[in-house]
Amino acid sequence: MIDKKIFGSFIEHIENCIEGGIYDKENINSDESGIRQDVLGLCREMSPSVIRFPGGTVMGIYHWEDYVGPVEGRKKIKNIIWGGQITREFGTAEFINFCDEIGSEPMICINMPTGTAKEAADWVEYCNGTDDTYYANLRRSHGYEEPFNVKYWCIGNESYAEPDLGMQHDVNVYIREAWEYIKYMKLTDPSIELVLVGNAFDMEWNKAVLDAFAPVCDYFSIHFYADGEMPVKQLEEFEETQLYSLEQMLDEYNMRDSKLDRWYRIPGRKREIRLALDEWNIWNPNENEHSKYGLYQEYTWEDAIWTAHFLFMLIRHSEHIGIANLAQLVNVIAPIMTNPDGVWKQTTFYPFMYIRKYCGKEISLGQSPFEESFGRDTVATSDDGRITYFVINSDGNDKYADCILSGFKQISLMASNPSDVNSMSEEKVWVEETDIDKDRILFKPYSINILTENE
Ligand code: AHR
Repeated sequence: MIDKKIFGSFIEHIENCIEGGIYDKENINSDESGIRQDVLGLCREMSPSVIRFPGGTVMGIYHWEDYVGPVEGRKKIKNIIWGGQITREFGTAEFINFCDEIGSEPMICINMPTGTAKEAADWVEYCNGTDDTYYANLRRSHGYEEPFNVKYWCIGNESYAEPDLGMQHDVNVYIREAWEYIKYMKLTDPSIELVLVGNAFDMEWNKAVLDAFAPVCDYFSIHFYADGEMPVKQLEEFEETQLYSLEQMLDEYNMRDSKLDRWYRIPGRKREIRLALDEWNIWNPNENEHSKYGLYQEYTWEDAIWTAHFLFMLIRHSEHIGIANLAQLVNVIAPIMTNPDGVWKQTTFYPFMYIRKYCGKEISLGQSPFEESFGRDTVATSDDGRITYFVINSDGNDKYADCILSGFKQISLMASNPSDVNSMSEEKVWVEETDIDKDRILFKPYSINILTENE
């Protein structure tokens, strides 16, 4: 089964992703709650299945109680991690409303560096509590009678990163402290699912974390950013080395009988451990004229083709990958861009939106007429027998495939040049849709193609 949570995204209090992007009280396109309706429209079109929040690295200064209740009472702070300020006006309820408006599942990352297990457990109760208890009642007093039902909770973020706040970069400290969070949060709501911190490049870290947490680890988090230098090569290497070793490692843990002693009083995981690639993208982190950490990126059509390759990889590995989040959603290394006057779609918006829309429930292996000649440039999925083929032509020449696909249509996403970028004033990407009526299928230069049966 392909878990649709692989088509997730991520928002953080970082530069103008949330404030000045999604949320902007002063903007003419915002509703009375401050949410920009033009941004929301594009988010709905792109339709991320799950959205991770509030960080990222910034969660190390995020204390959720300062972001709930009447907006007027919330106090502005300095964003000591990424620069600028956080008004704290976009907090838990605003995030849940935003997800509801899009139809996305919320995924919350708790603060391990400067928070406490109790604080995280109280957040769980605030979101999910249904009893007559303090934090559930606090949510009710803020106008939310029904629980938010947040199922996915990340126990830390890149905790191995020594420059970040907190002491958990020592794996033994991470393990000792994470246990307290896991127990406290699961005792508060046994139905939540947990994402523990892994490191794509440190198998010792991974082994230690899984040795400790295999019985309660629903998802194992891995982040992957290609830095813009030969991203295709980086992606191939990642798939061939890190990803395969991680999968092998998970297979070993999944075969073990790892049950929790009943005196822990919390349930263990219900299914096998899967990966959460809960941050991925192309990101050249060098300073540029807009952003100190390169968080403003203009994505070329070549980057969009890379994005399609990445999504193909997620589909190919869907047996092991249960969640993936394109980092991030708006303005910051993002497919959706804003300025005070309007919004535009980066090139990468298109493959995400179309592949997410047409991806079936299952991967269809060994049945594609394109597999032999297109290799990694193709993948096929099926939905109750209805097959969809995805094919990339990353070359500058036409490519053909001889096969009969009667009753199919071909949707092609294209730009004239790999270096093309979209801007507010100019869309360089276009979409062509044609019925397939020949036995020879043409894949135009630099095109991402979806071949799907007509309804
Ligand atoms: O997505 C930007 C940053 O990249 C996140 O805050 C952090 O988790 C990662 O290093």
